[in-house]
Amino acid sequence: MNVTDRPQAAADAAAYARIADALAGPGWCLTGGFLSAAQLDALRVQADTLDRQGAFKPAGVGRAADLAIRSTIRSDRVCWLDPESRDGAIGAYLAQLEDLRQTLNRDLCLGLFNFEGHLAIYPPGSFYRRHLDQFRGVELRTLTCILYLNPDWQPADGGLLRIYTDPDRPDHYEEVAPIGGTLVTFLSASFEHEVMLASRERLSLTGWFKRRG
Ligand code: OGA
Ligand code: MN
Repeated sequence: MNVTDRPQAAADAAAYARIADALAGPGWCLTGGFLSAAQLDALRVQADTLDRQGAFKPAGVGRAADLAIRSTIRSDRVCWLDPESRDGAIGAYLAQLEDLRQTLNRDLCLGLFNFEGHLAIYPPGSFYRRHLDQFRGVELRTLTCILYLNPDWQPADGGLLRIYTDPDRPDHYEEVAPIGGTLVTFLSASFEHEVMLASRERLSLTGWFKRRG
């Protein structure tokens, strides 16, 4: 079926093209309203069910043997996702990301190969200090994709994502509110970022497209 046969598919294709342009330029992109309100509601319900089932664990820093839970660096809880799953709202979103991956590989030759991602709950009072999404010595993570799931987020709720957008000016940043339906994409190697203290529970689905190892 041609993408223009379905209005949603056409809107998605336009969003993917915009993201490709932004990644080729500044290297990061903010897409508001990436998901419909219905899809967001369904994602929140699915996340809530997983939380009730005890699927969220304290987040670690580093990987494998280096993995350490350091609540002074980050204090969220995460639920890793099966990237192959196409179940429910999470699966539908992962399918959209797969379409984005194909667009970016075609238009930018990014060589994005596979995906890893998790839901993340930041309880009130939590944060994630300034960091890069690539692990030292393992530069496979290529594209970071963060989708926010929070309804009615208010400035007083804090929890902004601060992206250090200019490598030549280390203290220069842009801030993004974690408003439901906002998708943030950036080249993982290029941008340090941090999550400012959230005073209300903050839910996101964060993932990375990796190059082939
Ligand atoms: C991460 C991260 C940012 C956010 O999980 O690595 O930086 O806004 N998340 O949730
Ligand atoms: Mn990060």
